[in-house]
Amino acid sequence: MALLGLWLCPAFAATQEQPPTLGQEGKDAPWVPTPQELVDTMLDMAGVTGEDLLIDLGAGDGRVVISAAHRGARAIGVELDPGLVELAKTNAAAAGVSALTEFVTADIFEFDFSSASVISMFLLPELTLRLRPTLFDLRPGTRILSNTWDMRGTETDPEARGWDPDQTIVLDPCPGFCTAHVWTVPTKVAGTWRLDDGRLLHLTQRFQQVAGRLESGGSATEIFGGRLDGTTLTFGANGVDHTAEVDQAAMRGTTGTGDNTNSWRAQRVP
Ligand SMILES: C[S@@+](CC[C@H](N)C(=O)[O-])C[C@H]1O[C@@H](n2cnc3c(N)ncnc32)[C@H](O)[C@@H]1O
Repeated sequence: MALLGLWLCPAFAATQEQPPTLGQEGKDAPWVPTPQELVDTMLDMAGVTGEDLLIDLGAGDGRVVISAAHRGARAIGVELDPGLVELAKTNAAAAGVSALTEFVTADIFEFDFSSASVISMFLLPELTLRLRPTLFDLRPGTRILSNTWDMRGTETDPEARGWDPDQTIVLDPCPGFCTAHVWTVPTKVAGTWRLDDGRLLHLTQRFQQVAGRLESGGSATEIFGGRLDGTTLTFGANGVDHTAEVDQAAMRGTTGTGDNTNSWRAQRVP
């Protein structure tokens, strides 16, 4: 709760002469650090490893970047406040992870973060929503982490609703801020696909949720439970589970389970 008070009562932005202070105002969000326990939970949820490049949007004192580097990941912190960038570099050096980390003095709305395999953020609700279109267009499979704020939107703006987290964990007891969300960027599947047996799969998509119908010789069956996890599409149709790997214009799928598994392919109909 004390941290929430800091959030609501921002102090002045840091200058070179004045060291950063907790709760100080940033351009779009104040500096309030994520509790280390929640940082660790978020990195666990995304399964961060040495294969990853994590970019923290609004890096503060660098703790998310440094923690990712402790797991072997390369990590970049984007932070507009030069005093915080210096503090983060000092902290990274003290933690022995300077070689894996980089801190850039930049505005998150001008920085190209499309090379990341993991994005992390602790901003404000409207900023998180403003970033949503850019985040949704990241490479499929990119994981997005957020402390507290999600990307569902507001009830008064139906257009803003929709991107449910794939997983949410709430720490108990709460170390100040306690809610961690993770999303995996889904690939784009909306449109019509022709299966190799001639059937047509018509799909609509709302973030990771997929609906549609499977059409065969003039009759159509609704699909159910359609969902994307990165490039993996799962849905039910005709009482059977379908799973497919989607690669832009092609799907390679299996139907059924165990000994009753069949393979299928589909091409996007232009
Ligand atoms: C709530 S703090 C989060 C710090 C860190 N990510 C963490 O989780 O501990 C938000 C940070 O975003 C920075 N910030 C605010 N607006 C920004 C912008 N437009 N570009 C870059 N950084 C910004 C603030 O200076 C602050 O350090």
